Amino acid sequence: MSDTLPEAADGESVATAPSAEARLGSTTDTGAPAPSDRNSLTIGADGPILLHDVHFLNQMAHFNRERVPERNVHAKGSGAFGRFETTHDVSAYTKAALFQPGVTTEMLARFSTVAGEQGSPDTWRDPRGFALKFYTSEGNYDLVGNNTPVFFIRDTMKFPHFIRSQKRRGGSGLRDNHMQWDFWTLNPESAHQVTYLMGDRGIPRSYRTMNGYGSHTYLWINAAGEKHWVKYHFHSDQGVESLTDDDATQIAGKDADFHRRDLHQAIEEGNFPSWTLSVQLMPYDDAKTYRLNPFDLTKVWPHADYPLVPVGTMTLDRNPENFFAQIEQAAFEPSALVPGIGFSPDKMLLGRAFAYADTHRHRIGPNYLQLPVNRPHVEVNTYTQDGPMTYEHRGDDPVYAPNSAGRGYADQVGEAEESWEADGAMVRQAYTLRPDDDDFSQAGALVREVWDDDQRAAFVQTVAGHLLGGVHGDVLERAFDYWKHVDADCGKQIEELVRVDADLGGPGGQDDAARADASDPVTESDTH
Ligand code: HEM
Repeated sequence: MSDTLPEAADGESVATAPSAEARLGSTTDTGAPAPSDRNSLTIGADGPILLHDVHFLNQMAHFNRERVPERNVHAKGSGAFGRFETTHDVSAYTKAALFQPGVTTEMLARFSTVAGEQGSPDTWRDPRGFALKFYTSEGNYDLVGNNTPVFFIRDTMKFPHFIRSQKRRGGSGLRDNHMQWDFWTLNPESAHQVTYLMGDRGIPRSYRTMNGYGSHTYLWINAAGEKHWVKYHFHSDQGVESLTDDDATQIAGKDADFHRRDLHQAIEEGNFPSWTLSVQLMPYDDAKTYRLNPFDLTKVWPHADYPLVPVGTMTLDRNPENFFAQIEQAAFEPSALVPGIGFSPDKMLLGRAFAYADTHRHRIGPNYLQLPVNRPHVEVNTYTQDGPMTYEHRGDDPVYAPNSAGRGYADQVGEAEESWEADGAMVRQAYTLRPDDDDFSQAGALVREVWDDDQRAAFVQTVAGHLLGGVHGDVLERAFDYWKHVDADCGKQIEELVRVDADLGGPGGQDDAARADASDPVTESDTH
């Protein structure tokens, strides 16, 4: 018994005696007055707990089920609500209601790291997720992108392998740079994205100070049925700011929730972050002859070829009232499209069209779309029905189509408007090679043409530091080759730094044997 705390009538210490109203306010899960939120029911003060203390049992049982599985990737994230306002007229390109001039649409954004688990530091070097859900007048539109315009791979088939290489080893349960570089160097199409990641945008200062990209190529269709291919760019109105490796490491130790806190506080203080959306538009037929494959997610479209066209502004102005209900249970899916927006032949996008809704059914439950945060802000009129936790339902409406009650098939003639032509034999191979398709040119251009000397120097240090974190043998040799293919100078500097620090033999030393064995990443590309 505490000496300092007052004693309640039941003999238990309480810090502050609850008022009668507060005690009356607490109920069981079935709505009856709760018998106690402090003491379980026992036989005598020292006796065993009784099985029929159902309130206690319910509290325990529900607690045991309090968590849903964390997202397999992008587990650590933060989110806020806001609005998207279309400020420019792009109706010549899409008939989507949310992109018509003057329309404002409620939305939710969730930003995240990728490989870390829920409690991992926000400031580890990793791409950042940039997931948006627009509650449009035509149903939900989800744009689930990253803070980089490209990705590590170009076929979804590789995604589970890629992610496993970035997560933890089966044996030790440890993350392992060696494993990461093993995957990257054996998959040279990763070069562009890894260059981004190791560059000065690799660790954003905050979620507010990073850009977001739809990354994939999508299809836009206007009211006349004309089509353009489109890429989305959300530029931060706060400007782009990054953290150095040293600062990020220090912050990770002090405040693992640095980015979550920053976003929450800014919105709490009325300092609402915003982003300007612009798009690149490619006339539909250009895609057939463009010098690089416009659907390959490892490539950008040079702005000189397809300049940015402004669309509107996204502003985040409302924090979640409950993190679990509104952010943890938020379910973003690239498959949520609206009329006027379609997929493209991007093999990553088409794979994602399956993956997300499927994981939501597993992570949250088959009726995840009935939760307030996921529910479209329009009437849902679907034949899908029942399943655990059904809340929305259609009463006694017919459960089959067609039917005599007037609820027939959705389509009349089977037209597929958001579509493209495809013909040919079934194959398993990457995109057809175009003149400017290779794995290293765009990464090299980023290093040479976009960055300045300081940025290049920091990049060399970052890569060398990462390689010195346990990468060895053939994988290390392949990594040197990989960077020399991106940029000969930087590659050489990286190799020199690592060899000096790791006390490895220089060229001509014993490592030459390993080098001779190492696969040339260029020859391993699955595209070319
Ligand atoms: C989350 C799969 C590629 C961005 C996820 C999740 C899965 C997944 C299973 C967890 C979803 C959840 O549990 O709620 C895949 C597959 C990919 C892929 C199979 C292979 C093509 C990408 C790409 C991007 C991306 C290319 C960005 C351009 C995101 C984001 C989230 C996410 C932002 C977090 C969404 C949120 O905030 O809830 N992905 N992903 N993914 N993915 Fe992917």
